[in-house]
Amino acid sequence: MKKNSTLLVTGGAGFIGANFVHYWLNNYPDTKIINLDSLTYAGNLTSLTDISSNPNYTFIEGNITNKELVNKIMDDVDIVVHFAAESHVDRSILNPEIFLETNVMGTHVLLESAVRNKIERFHHISTDEVFGTLSLEDLNSKFSENTPYDPRSPYSASKAASDHLVRAYGETYNLKYSITNCSNNYGEFQHPEKLIPLTITNLMEDLEIPVYGDGMQVRDWLYVQDHCKAIDMVLNSENTDKTFVVGGLNEDIPNIEIIKMIINLMGKSENLIKFVKDRAGHDKRYSVDWSNIKEKLNWTPSVTFEEGLQKTIDWYKNNQSWWKPLKNDSKDFFLKNYQGR
Ligand code: NAD
Ligand code: DAU
Repeated sequence: MKKNSTLLVTGGAGFIGANFVHYWLNNYPDTKIINLDSLTYAGNLTSLTDISSNPNYTFIEGNITNKELVNKIMDDVDIVVHFAAESHVDRSILNPEIFLETNVMGTHVLLESAVRNKIERFHHISTDEVFGTLSLEDLNSKFSENTPYDPRSPYSASKAASDHLVRAYGETYNLKYSITNCSNNYGEFQHPEKLIPLTITNLMEDLEIPVYGDGMQVRDWLYVQDHCKAIDMVLNSENTDKTFVVGGLNEDIPNIEIIKMIINLMGKSENLIKFVKDRAGHDKRYSVDWSNIKEKLNWTPSVTFEEGLQKTIDWYKNNQSWWKPLKNDSKDFFLKNYQGR
């Protein structure tokens, strides 16, 4: 990567994108970032207020499906880091179509433009959900770079399609690309529709915590700044591997135990736990074997789950003006998703 590269970050006003923009400008102050984001319900410019006047940062409000706009922007770009997506599984169950538009067609538009403009590198942010579900009985099973694709929700199917498109553009048009498939991120700036911030903010408001099914599903939790570091190492690596899976430090903790840990850390009551109807097609277990990225790039997650959870709780306690309006704006979704469950 050149010292003064220009990065096009898509979805930089979302959770991971905003963390990445902060991470990048702190670590590479001489590079330029163009943040292209259409500001859906999940995009929030208040996550970026502190850097909005940085001369190396430009925000463009626009949709990644807009070919003309994307082509115009791509002209000045060296590297694309593609976060923009519809990202919430429950929303994909209620309304799949927008997931195909953004995650599949949007990625296609970016890829076309990247090829046309001879972009130096296209880095695609993907998910471990493309691999489907692991068994709760065999805790030794883990996702790796060699796991076959088996997506089971409209969200993960759309992400799988986008991964395939990126690889196809690499093979067919010689686009230089890399992909990271990471596990569940958590940390600051995450929309309160997702399990950890939903639990923290509901507890702060003395609202019930909806637990899908029996709460025994397992996720692999990755602190968001560790994820940003992994992307950095992949972008700066000369390694010829195209795909890396990225995961966190926790070991198979069921959702219900995560919720109890948060309740305990916040000194709240378990009476607020409410078991509700399960998510349709709910994946049972995710767990990531990140030994390959450790071996090839020397990346390891650094933040323990306990440490990350405490930092996250503190952040939501101290930033109520950030998340309260988001919960209010998503009232319709919360009603649709949780009513009658
Ligand atoms: P998010 O939902 O918080 O943010 C998505 C951002 O993309 C928002 O700012 C939104 O406005 C923007 N966006 C959506 N549609 C757009 C469009 N058509 N054009 C331009 N911008 C658009 O998502 P996130 O949790 O930050 O996830 C970022 C990426 O990481 C996604 O690709 C997601 O699939 C992937 N991922 C997320 C996680 C996780 O745990 N959050 C884990 C693995 C992979
Ligand atoms: O694995 C990576 C994926 O992690 C990303 O690709 C997605 O973008 C991201 O949203 C996340 O998907 P999940 O579906 O795993 O995350 P979510 O926070 O929605 O749910 C985590 C677990 O908690 C899951 O087993 C469902 C459960 N859950 C979730 C909500 C919102 C509940 O029990 N109750 C809830 O109200």
